Amino acid sequence: MCGIIGYLGKKPIVPVLLEGLKRLEYRGYDSAGIVTLSNGKINLVKQAGKISNLESLLAERPINGVAGIAHTRWATHGVPNSTNAHPHTDCGNKFALIHNGIIENFGAIKTDLISKGHEFKTQTDTEALVHLIEEFYKHHMPFEEAVRAALLQVEGTYGIAVVCSDEPDVIIAARKGSPLVVGHGDGENFVASDVSAIIDHTKQVSYLDDDEMAVVRRNGIEVKTISNLPVQKQVEQVAFELGRIEKGGYDHFMLKEIMEQPSTIKDAMRGRLIKDEGIARLGGMHEVMEALLNAKRFLITACGTSWHAALIGEYMLEEFVRVPVEVEYASEFRYRDPVIEENNVVIVISQSGETADTLAALREAKRKGASVIGICNVVGSTIARDVHAGAYLHAGPEIGVASTKAFTSQVTLLALITLFLARHRNMSAAKGAEIVQEMAALPEKVEKILGLREQIKKIAQLYHMSNNFLYLGRGYNFPVALEGALKLKEISYIHAEGYPAAEMKHGPIALIDENMPVVFIATKDSTYEKIVSNIEEVRARRGKVIAIATEGDEEIGKRADHVIYIPQTQQMLQPILTIIPLQLLAYYIAIMRNCDVDQPRNLAKSVTVE
Ligand code: F6R
Repeated sequence: MCGIIGYLGKKPIVPVLLEGLKRLEYRGYDSAGIVTLSNGKINLVKQAGKISNLESLLAERPINGVAGIAHTRWATHGVPNSTNAHPHTDCGNKFALIHNGIIENFGAIKTDLISKGHEFKTQTDTEALVHLIEEFYKHHMPFEEAVRAALLQVEGTYGIAVVCSDEPDVIIAARKGSPLVVGHGDGENFVASDVSAIIDHTKQVSYLDDDEMAVVRRNGIEVKTISNLPVQKQVEQVAFELGRIEKGGYDHFMLKEIMEQPSTIKDAMRGRLIKDEGIARLGGMHEVMEALLNAKRFLITACGTSWHAALIGEYMLEEFVRVPVEVEYASEFRYRDPVIEENNVVIVISQSGETADTLAALREAKRKGASVIGICNVVGSTIARDVHAGAYLHAGPEIGVASTKAFTSQVTLLALITLFLARHRNMSAAKGAEIVQEMAALPEKVEKILGLREQIKKIAQLYHMSNNFLYLGRGYNFPVALEGALKLKEISYIHAEGYPAAEMKHGPIALIDENMPVVFIATKDSTYEKIVSNIEEVRARRGKVIAIATEGDEEIGKRADHVIYIPQTQQMLQPILTIIPLQLLAYYIAIMRNCDVDQPRNLAKSVTVE
């Protein structure tokens, strides 16, 4: 979603800010803008569309300065045009402000300010905040105090950065519900919504917590609470290398991330599989170990792709740990007053660790007394810091908006948790050893499937003009059908639906004719015979069948129009293999339709608003 970068230092400001914005592009946006401070005034340039449009405008109307802030906007209030793009300014053009989040009471603030003579230029919620700061400043409050006073009136969420032309050596940043990080440099300092925006310049960062405010100057950063109490922030060293947020020779981040999966799956398991004992070790779970071992029920909550991983977790935990599991969309969980009882453990799954609904669900679960475990990718993210304990995916930054490598790592982590708990309960050492061995073999098997790219590309060529797709699977492969359909729809804009294969007869079968490609995940497992019958039902109606099948299964070749063969593995681990061809199929279809796979329309990488 929206991205923030601010800089105070000696480097040429516009390139620093533009490069930072480009590193944030992956979050999804629809307009961009920049403000610099020079000679006691603010220089504002903003534009609808891509950052390249902003660059062209800056080439025509160059600006400079020593301090500045810049923003990529993902529209919530007001259409995505250049007027509504951030930064927003006050009536006197003294302040410029960028904002991630939503100011829920902006209507009331705006009405009050209009009655006091303020003139609004945009349809955004954010503009109310900059006029409110102006209002306090007019009444002789210093800049910092005016920002504080304004924020105290705000209901909703924000990550903001604001500058004032009277104080060109200061950027004020504040956070409530929308991530912000400050970067410590040598004679220069930064603020950003995401470390990737500033990683070119510094790896020393401090993450702001909710209700904190940072006063960023060239030679230092002071952090306080919104109520003006000093805060000692830890300076942390960011671990990831710049190369991990570059395309590394691939045309798209999405393809790079699909291809990285043999190593990201290995990284998710690194140091966590104990072969000799057939067990998993989960270092980050100490805090909740007792709760985990005594859990009588698990609730798993997440959004989107992470929710699909959660469904697989439900199948795994119920099969091997034999405790009831419920999986719920975080957006529903948070408002539904869910029943949480003693010995219930809540697991939240989020790649970004910033998804607003998942964060709210986690806080609701904590409020109700549950022990909460997090499975996150982004180190230091809000969810990762808010849970009682957790495990990181260690998949490295996922830049493509469509989640790929995070999904396989999430499923890997859920398999580790299952193995860990099952071995503490009633799984035999022999079964444990079998699972460990199969898990260790996954990276090589994924590598083999990635080698099928040319075959998958040919199938994509045949069907990329289709208007609809159906994805069907059973058992562990039902969530994979959902995930395959989500991948296709989000990056190719083809309507696609995933169903449990048996449900087809209860409705979707009406859609099947010779124009409907149906992707079956038909691996050799306990539901194989059933899914073969479903394939026949589709064939009888002249639907086109693309099957993901197990190597050596000759039978399926006689029934399907196309078969993508994948290696055999344990049933519970199959999703880690079966999703790979579906990711590639979606990718190639989207490319053939000339879609922007890394930044699909309307989508944001990290959904920090409800
Ligand atoms: C789909 C996708 C989204 C995310 C969802 C949750 O490819 O990326 O559906 O999975 O927005 O995001 P996280 O996992 O960051 O909480």
